[in-house]
Amino acid sequence: MNHIKHVAIIMDGNGRWGIKHKNSRNLGHKEGIRTVEKIIKSSIKNKIKYLTLYAFSTENWKRPKKEINFLFNLLENFLLTKISQFNKQSIKLKVIGKKNFSKKINLLLKKSEKMTLKNKKLQINLALNYGSKSELVHSFNMIKKNKKTINEKNISNYLFTQNIPDPDILIRTGNTQRLSNFLLWQLAYTEIFFEKKLWPDFNENDYNLILNKFKKIKRNYGNI
Ligand code: FPP
Repeated sequence: MNHIKHVAIIMDGNGRWGIKHKNSRNLGHKEGIRTVEKIIKSSIKNKIKYLTLYAFSTENWKRPKKEINFLFNLLENFLLTKISQFNKQSIKLKVIGKKNFSKKINLLLKKSEKMTLKNKKLQINLALNYGSKSELVHSFNMIKKNKKTINEKNISNYLFTQNIPDPDILIRTGNTQRLSNFLLWQLAYTEIFFEKKLWPDFNENDYNLILNKFKKIKRNYGNI
């Protein structure tokens, strides 16, 4: 049986869920937070060590300002209300992506990371202003700047996910089958699960079904 260390998730479908229920994309984002909470709990139950959540991509800046503001208010609220609880549960928060938000958000993210730095039970990697292509370009530039050799180890070492094992599982909800500039390097040998349900409808049972399916997969890594 495969052991699960790291699960990465593209939480897609909030907007469609909100439109379907109350004709408001933002309602879907709000509901999406509940699913985030459920999946965090379930990850701890399943003894998963790393959970990477794609919360805001470099491409998401193209959205209307109102929706962007709503998302960052949700994030702020989420951290303000949850971070002490996370800390008590030994959850570590790490942001992957460039922290160039408002002063208030940057400070809150840094404080949350610092407060939970030594925690060991579960590490949540929150992908914010994250884009895999720009992450790779950044890594190559760092290699050049530090006059290092281009090899797999050095490329990995200069990614935001430095020291984090590659995901075993990628889940994308929302009935869309693409990677959307997410962890392109890190997903080289990841098992991918595309889920029809929209993120706010995704639940612990759906999550467990995927985890159990993964456990039974024969992983060859190119061997036979
Ligand atoms: C994708 O759905 C979702 C996002 C771009 C935002 C994800 C954010 C959350 C779940 C809430 C914030 C999370 C945290 C951890 C604070 P979409 O809007 O692209 O949906 P659509 O494909 O139906 O339009």
